[in-house]
Amino acid sequence: MAKKRNIIVGQSGGPTSVINSSLAGVYKTAKERGFHKVYGMLHGIEGFLDEMYVDLSTQIHSDMDIELLKRTPSAFLGSCRYKLPDIHENPEIYEKIFSILDKLQIEAFIYIGGNDSMDTIKKLSDYAIVKGHAQKFLGVPKTIDNDLALTDHTPGFGSAAKYIATSTKEVIRDAMGLSYKRKMITIMEIMGRNAGWLTGATALAKTEECCGPDLIYLPEVPFDLEKFLKKCTDLLKKKPSIVVAVSEGIKTPDGTYVCQLAGGSDYVDAFGHTQLAGTASYLAAYLASQTGHKTRAVELSTLQRSASHMASRVDINEAFMVGGAAVKAADEGDTGKMVVIDRVSDDPYMSAAGIYDVHKIANNEKLVPRNWVNREGNYVTQDFINYVEPLIQGDYQPFMVNGLPQHLVLRR
Ligand code: F6P
Repeated sequence: MAKKRNIIVGQSGGPTSVINSSLAGVYKTAKERGFHKVYGMLHGIEGFLDEMYVDLSTQIHSDMDIELLKRTPSAFLGSCRYKLPDIHENPEIYEKIFSILDKLQIEAFIYIGGNDSMDTIKKLSDYAIVKGHAQKFLGVPKTIDNDLALTDHTPGFGSAAKYIATSTKEVIRDAMGLSYKRKMITIMEIMGRNAGWLTGATALAKTEECCGPDLIYLPEVPFDLEKFLKKCTDLLKKKPSIVVAVSEGIKTPDGTYVCQLAGGSDYVDAFGHTQLAGTASYLAAYLASQTGHKTRAVELSTLQRSASHMASRVDINEAFMVGGAAVKAADEGDTGKMVVIDRVSDDPYMSAAGIYDVHKIANNEKLVPRNWVNREGNYVTQDFINYVEPLIQGDYQPFMVNGLPQHLVLRR
């Protein structure tokens, strides 16, 4: 009997509002290319080790389901933050993974994730080559942080940037309306860990009818609390209300995260990342005590990565494209690689899928170049804005049911 051509896909790391569009791209392309079964691992490689997976044809029944999946935020299959041990540390884990893959007759393993997740693709593809296993391992980029190397940008970033810029405009309107005889300082905290791409995207809020944020602080530039206080006080002499965007990961010159000045969280994930939260609250309390003005902290938190009602059409389409491109690459014999997005032109904006060695991507962080931040270190430049602007274009309307967006959810 001919060997079955099966494929398995997983999602890993922090979710985005378009990660499921990549999953839809994997599923549709795998079916078009004649794969027999498309399995989805539940909660990434961590769940796979517990033999948690589904046959995706039991979940996706029609083109309508594919469309719904593309509009569904968070990881449809469930995600994980799980670091595979090095091969010599725990060979049994690798033997287990490959025995499950063999049992399911898997030909290609596709993992949708960020730089930590690409570590899994790197390790599994290396192991397969050394041990002579035939399976192909391909990565699909995903992260709102936009910190993956060698790709122009990452799926998930454009939609988060669009939501953040929109929210910044809305927060500015709210603050302007309330500051009549009283001064007001609003601090917005944006995700991105050590990369300031998303925080910089608040600059897109500066439009014909909106002044945009007054100050923007990225983690790439050391943060000086005293200079910050002086800057805010000077600005408040000229206007009643200021809005400041800060990255969750800003650090003082000695390398301390600002959020840790107030204690912060002790939680550290499997990749050694400390949970970052509380930067805006700390700064709002600090400014209130130093200036006596009213302050407010706005932490966008998970909203920025799950706001699929505000997704960018460019982002949804690219997320779908890279999912499909990974299946095609694996089917054509590639392994140990990640699909990348190449910017083909800016005006009109066009992109295409490329492919790169995952060893050059895993565990790396692509930061905002220093020359895309102004000299004072408190705003981004026009080059930064020109880079992000095409990625937030267009929308992808949710299917509304009884006034709310409808999602596709896993049925077991
Ligand atoms: O990796 C994406 C990301 O959204 C980061 O920007 C953020 O620091 C982190 O995830 C938060 O992760 P969690 O929700 O697991 O605390």
